[in-house]
Amino acid sequence: MDHWTPGSWRDKPIEQTPVYADQAALADVERQLAGFPPLVFAGEARSLRRSLAEVAGGRAFLLQGGDCAESFSEHSADNIRDFFRVFLQMAVVLTYAAASPVVKVGRIAGQFAKPRSAPFETQGDVELPSYRGDIINDIEFSVNVRRPDPQRQLMAYRQSAATLNLIRAFATGGYANLENARRWMLGFVRNSPLSARYSQLADHISETLGFMRAIGLDPEHHPELRQTDFYTSHEALLLGYEQALTRVDSLEGGYFATSGHFLWIGDRTRQPDGAHIEYVRGIQNPIGLKCGPSLKPDALLRLIDALDPQNEPGRLTLICRFGAEKAAEALPTLLRAVSREGRNVVWCCDPMHGNTISAGGRKTRPFDRVMSEIRTFFEAHRAEGTYAGGIHLEMTGQDVTECIGGARDISERELHMRYDTTCDPRLNAEQAIEVAFLVAELLKAERLARGGHDKEAAE
Ligand code: PEP
Ligand code: CO
Repeated sequence: MDHWTPGSWRDKPIEQTPVYADQAALADVERQLAGFPPLVFAGEARSLRRSLAEVAGGRAFLLQGGDCAESFSEHSADNIRDFFRVFLQMAVVLTYAAASPVVKVGRIAGQFAKPRSAPFETQGDVELPSYRGDIINDIEFSVNVRRPDPQRQLMAYRQSAATLNLIRAFATGGYANLENARRWMLGFVRNSPLSARYSQLADHISETLGFMRAIGLDPEHHPELRQTDFYTSHEALLLGYEQALTRVDSLEGGYFATSGHFLWIGDRTRQPDGAHIEYVRGIQNPIGLKCGPSLKPDALLRLIDALDPQNEPGRLTLICRFGAEKAAEALPTLLRAVSREGRNVVWCCDPMHGNTISAGGRKTRPFDRVMSEIRTFFEAHRAEGTYAGGIHLEMTGQDVTECIGGARDISERELHMRYDTTCDPRLNAEQAIEVAFLVAELLKAERLARGGHDKEAAE
């Protein structure tokens, strides 16, 4: 690799970076962060990479999701538990349908920095810097708090640590035990059209566990039944923060980002010679690259060469976010180019970011368009003989009204009721589970089609 250091990005042109007035204060915060313990460990990032290699090989499915932007004010145990519970429910729905492992990656415990389409926001005759996520400034439209404040990076670090601590407890301390699959329904929207469906699935799981216990496979002796692997991810946007948390793996060597297990590059910061690509190319974590409508096949291949020169399965996930309309045209060309070069990537569908519309002065996403992009994604892969490896969602465990449509058919008029996001509109708990059921059908159809092929091949 050309000379790389955790700070070599500083010599490259950079996009979407906040302007800190007090550089000495910024440097002091970065120095403090550099002395803090890592949030995640290299061995965990390696194990995620191995799991993603299974996805790249078509033997597992990736579920990635969480808030568009985490916020300091919404940091509560209930919020984290509700998110985690919905995520587990979705994972169970998908695992059951695909009959293959689901790799679970939250947009959580570090998803604080946001790229913005405009550097300034104007209200009346006042112009202030845009809100860039709680790690940088405050959403309130007032001059003092819109100023980027480096101290907020320390808050983000501490909140990430506390969130991760609770998630680790949930993942390994009994909450994620499959025997609780029915209990995860507690707190779920009452009378939801989807609860009967989920309840049926929970019954199947209970029966299966009963059968397994009868033949001697019980959760007491099989940790995989009572705990789960859950990983964290966020956009690698605020590079000073990332650099401060970049550490050498003391066991096997190599640099790892320790702010989260999986880091991705946003659609606005993927300039091949820019700072963000420079930073992630040198870390050993599994990484993601957002692929939007302006990305042409040649440019993508060049980025793949930079980010995954060894062509290692599990290293690179391409997160496609074209929008329901553009996906059908854009995807096949990219899929063909990447397979022609024999590149081992994970293909993941982000059906959120290309489908944002404005309704009644608020950003929203129509549920049908989200589903339509997912369907197009699966169809394109089927046609090209590649593997639709995962989905990437903006979602919450709360009963918000931010995306229109879904089983309860949230209307534009209802958006104001519980519109709580600090950035992009998220699927609420029910809509997220609905997506999981619909994706489950696609996965099941794919599994049956593959089973058919295997049978034909054997005959
Ligand atoms: C995001 O994931 O919140 C985001 C900003 O996405 P993108 O870079 O794809 O626009
Ligand atoms: Co977003």
